[in-house]
Amino acid sequence: MRTSSRSARQEARPALRVVQSASPADRRILVIVADASFRETVVRLLALDGFEARGTVERQEALACLETGDFGLVLCEESETGTEGGGLPAHLRRERPEIGVVLLVSEERAEQAHLHVPALADDLLLKPRCRDDLRLTIHRALAQARLRIENRELRESLDLEGERHVRELSRSVRSVERAYRLALESLVAALDAREGETHRHSRRVAEYAGRLADALGVSEGEKRDMFHGALLHDLGKIGIPDSILLKPAPLTNDEWRIMRSHPRLGYNIVRGLPGLRAAAECVIGHHERWDGGGYPLGFAGEELPRAARVVAVADAIDAMSVRRPYRDPLPFDRFVAELVQNRGTQFDPEVVDVALQLFRGWADLHPDAQAWREVAESAASHARFEPPAREAA
Ligand SMILES: [Fe+2]
Ligand SMILES: [Fe+2]
Repeated sequence: MRTSSRSARQEARPALRVVQSASPADRRILVIVADASFRETVVRLLALDGFEARGTVERQEALACLETGDFGLVLCEESETGTEGGGLPAHLRRERPEIGVVLLVSEERAEQAHLHVPALADDLLLKPRCRDDLRLTIHRALAQARLRIENRELRESLDLEGERHVRELSRSVRSVERAYRLALESLVAALDAREGETHRHSRRVAEYAGRLADALGVSEGEKRDMFHGALLHDLGKIGIPDSILLKPAPLTNDEWRIMRSHPRLGYNIVRGLPGLRAAAECVIGHHERWDGGGYPLGFAGEELPRAARVVAVADAIDAMSVRRPYRDPLPFDRFVAELVQNRGTQFDPEVVDVALQLFRGWADLHPDAQAWREVAESAASHARFEPPAREAA
């Protein structure tokens, strides 16, 4: 391998006037050409133009030189791109994009070789007349390589900046969501407290709905809607007079009519709150029935969103299993039987099936956890948990 030396002619003129490079590497060029005399000619010409050029024909040697980071540009023959995987030019683009690449190409191959620009090379030089364009082409390719690096650095810094913004935004969203949920829970706690014995009813229904949502494998968004819908499902009771809401006796027909207005009252409140449109559908839908006989809309089957069907089951489980002003809680096996009996009439059968598999483990949420656990674990109750055999298709 030979190293070019600066000629007297080159020393006579200011080299740095010609090469106004960003780094010393921009003045160093590796010439990889098989023909020794042509290679030497190119090296000499580059030296005359103020570059430090080095010639080689060995690929391994070329790679070793380039690894040092001392070279800003490679001048190689276009035939290099025809070797496996795009040859040295492709390797440089992948591993060392800061190095400019200029391909030496014969006139017959010029049109074909243009296809490699800019994917594999920054520019082309026609053999054997490369002297005419050598200086200009090298400068153009070096500028191209610098631009590529600046773009990459800019992109990387924008990516980092973007990631930082996304992280900050996610943190803010989580904290707003937490604050929002706490505000909703306080609102609902006030309502539950008003009902006395059913204290924390809404909170339990929300927990039941969350567990049903997990078992049903719904998306995080739908689960959030179910949770909020369950939490707020009875919010409309805020508009029901105490004389009806807390009456320790069965309601009259007129009182029932007023009581049954609470899903719509709640819907009208919740639908106006940001991000709670889907939750509002749970509020208006929690007394609907699978067979269409519920209120206030009379929707049947899947006309009602799944989130509302889940909340309806969760609400019924809590309503039956906890003491109310007008009645005692149903024994555990009785309300299991109620769910089974109303599977496919009042309740979405899929949701009931999931609930039957799950709620033996819900003692931690129930006000009388010990009683729940004892009955849930009794042999007599177990038989009632199994969902009925599906109808033949
Ligand atoms: Fe209700
Ligand atoms: Fe309820």
